[in-house]
Amino acid sequence: MLLAYFHHLTTQPSWLLFLSFIGFLAILKHSIFILKWVFITFLRPSKDLNKYGSWALVTGATDGIGKAFAYQLASKGLNLVLVSRNHNKLKTVLKEIQADFPYTHIKIVPLDFSNDLSPGIRLVEEEIKALDIGILINNVGITYPSARFFHEVDENVWMNIVKVNVEGTTRITKAVLPGMIERKRGAIVNIGSGAAIVVPSHPLFTIYAATKAYIDQLSRSLRVEYKHYGIDVQCQTIMLDLQFVKLAMKHGARPTGLTHYSGALLACSQRLFLMLGVCLLVFGGGNKSLHEILLSYFVNGVDEEL
Ligand SMILES: NC(=O)c1ccc[n+]([C@@H]2O[C@H](COP(=O)([O-])OP(=O)(O)OC[C@H]3O[C@@H](n4cnc5c(N)ncnc54)[C@H](OP(=O)(O)O)[C@@H]3O)[C@@H](O)[C@H]2O)c1
Repeated sequence: MLLAYFHHLTTQPSWLLFLSFIGFLAILKHSIFILKWVFITFLRPSKDLNKYGSWALVTGATDGIGKAFAYQLASKGLNLVLVSRNHNKLKTVLKEIQADFPYTHIKIVPLDFSNDLSPGIRLVEEEIKALDIGILINNVGITYPSARFFHEVDENVWMNIVKVNVEGTTRITKAVLPGMIERKRGAIVNIGSGAAIVVPSHPLFTIYAATKAYIDQLSRSLRVEYKHYGIDVQCQTIMLDLQFVKLAMKHGARPTGLTHYSGALLACSQRLFLMLGVCLLVFGGGNKSLHEILLSYFVNGVDEEL
């Protein structure tokens, strides 16, 4: 049977054999890609985050995604530096997390990213000087209160968005990176948005989308610059409107650590542990919903590491 097949091949014109060979190579390349993607998405065990260092710094840690990350990191045995605007909320979150994870050391640093950042950044640098910060979650980010045409957005609103999303992320990264370079290990996770990466344009939230495009490109370039220092960079592309989750929490969901972060919020942070150091772009939101799986396949299709 096999011999007959080979005999049949030898009777074919050489141009047809050449084209078939090229086609075979193309199919092989895509099959390897799909197999790797299936392994990474479904089978690969979570990463041991403690290998990056014993502390993690999370910005915007008193609510939403940032708070979910803080819980997740504490559950994995990391100590936390929580940076956010409101001192009282920081103290509350500290107590909540320590109630569930009593052995977690937590430092809080109140910092309003829309104010003059220099004193706040100096404070952060002072607090982390002696700490082995292995993971930085650049989560803080704001947008318009509601959809607006570009020319209608108040000056102070758009300037705050640029300050918090662009300057805040950049300066915190610059504050944390030298320690990671020295230790030759670390992970930086920037929270991006589907507004910049998934959709071709995001009208009426133009400035927000543009700042998230900055986050995307910042992540891509940092990843290449610091790879040889052992520093992994990831951009999490959040796509779900999480207001409903927060609403549910306001209406009765008791803040009992990880359990009240079921669903979307938890999925965002869990995806991190699976993909850190493997993929640049990670889509957070629902847990392995079809649209995310397809997106991660097609968008990561251009990611040379997958
Ligand atoms: N939610 C979504 O559907 C969605 C979608 C795509 C991307 N994202 C991105 O995900 C990230 C987190 O979003 P989220 O919805 O979880 O946010 P959130 O619930 O509004 O929480 C924001 C956090 O950032 C803090 N914060 C806000 N302004 C600050 C400032 N000027 N200085 C310091 N801290 C400040 C808040 O502190 P206070 O408690 O003091 O307010 C809070 O801890 C953002 O980067 C956002 O762009 C979210």
